[in-house]
Amino acid sequence: MSQEAQNIIDESFSYLVKTYAPQPVVMDYGEGCYAYDTDGKKYLDCAAGIAVASLGHAHPALLKTINEQAARMMTCQASYATKEKLKAARLLVKTSCFDQVYFSNSGTESVEASLKCARKWAYDEKGAQANEIIAFRKSFHGRTYGSASVTEKFHSQPFFGPYLGGIKWAEFNDIESVKAVASKETTAAIIIEPVQGEGGLTPATPEFMQDLRELCDELNICLIFDEVQAGFGRLGSLHAYESFGVEPDIAAWAKGMGSGFPVGAMAAKEKFGKAIVVGTHGTTYGGNPLACAVAATVMEELTKPGFLAHAQKVSTLMFDGLNEIKRASNKITDIRGMGLMIGVDTVFDIKSVLGGLQKNGMMATQAGKGTLRITPPLILSEDEAKEALYIIKTTLSELEE
Ligand SMILES: Cc1ncc(COP(=O)(O)O)c(C=O)c1O
Repeated sequence: MSQEAQNIIDESFSYLVKTYAPQPVVMDYGEGCYAYDTDGKKYLDCAAGIAVASLGHAHPALLKTINEQAARMMTCQASYATKEKLKAARLLVKTSCFDQVYFSNSGTESVEASLKCARKWAYDEKGAQANEIIAFRKSFHGRTYGSASVTEKFHSQPFFGPYLGGIKWAEFNDIESVKAVASKETTAAIIIEPVQGEGGLTPATPEFMQDLRELCDELNICLIFDEVQAGFGRLGSLHAYESFGVEPDIAAWAKGMGSGFPVGAMAAKEKFGKAIVVGTHGTTYGGNPLACAVAATVMEELTKPGFLAHAQKVSTLMFDGLNEIKRASNKITDIRGMGLMIGVDTVFDIKSVLGGLQKNGMMATQAGKGTLRITPPLILSEDEAKEALYIIKTTLSELEE
């Protein structure tokens, strides 16, 4: 690393609150599926901002939208309709099972809105005692108080407690554990990630999702899918729920929805969405014209003929290639995930795997205790997928057990 890069890191982190341990490189710019550091080194970006840059970096259609819309209007009060908001909302409703959307700026805000909507619906429908939420072990839903309350790992951080009351825990993919804590009278909602992301890339089984749907119908409970990481083509379907053949009542969206621009949404079936009335929820930035123009452009790209089929094809290539590396060596112990949301467990410490990949020109991230998480842009070409596999194979062969 150059002295200049080291200085940028040192000075930055002297001003920043230490939420993250610093990476040993300074990122400069990106193009397509590649990112470049300030020393000119090129990286195949298989992190994509953790499943964010769905269209890669500097996508021409997105740049055009951002430039044009920034010059026209970036913000106005959320109570105004705009053509951009109409376009984004219409696209989201017409391509999903939902009737209404609420725009936010991040994943955690989408989850907060989902929890509040479900709680308000349950209050109106069943009464004040219906305030419990069922969440899952190893969940991750965000860092603000509502989202953190349904994220298991934060409960071991006593300095932030008390969290929201009425949270019940169940085991992922175990319907009996859900039934044990579900109640028609007191449960407002169940919140689940279709593929647990931070928890280690574990997909829910379609049977479990079907069982959850039936349980929620039977006990009149609101079913929330947190599709923040798994949505917008990440699993090979436009919306994550489509990959399971089950419709939730509410979904939380963000990340890939803006491909790098901060935009999110809560989407709801009318019965649930209409519980939110004037004065019960809102936002300053959510639904601003710039964010909505971006979301609409991302939607237009994702729904172009062949786009999702390409992501599915590259996913198969990645899973096949990883399985081949697993068979040929004893370095990989498990491969999980769906679509281009892939988790790989290895015999090595995750920090050395990520460091080795970085050295060899590839960015990826950690999930769970030690899982390598691969979430490249959905535009990853077949050649780029082969390059990623080559770098993974080389890196694993270089590491010492
Ligand atoms: C499933 C899920 N929900 C919510 C969030 C929170 O999103 P944000 O960091 O945009 O608030 C994340 C972030 O990683 C996530 O993976």
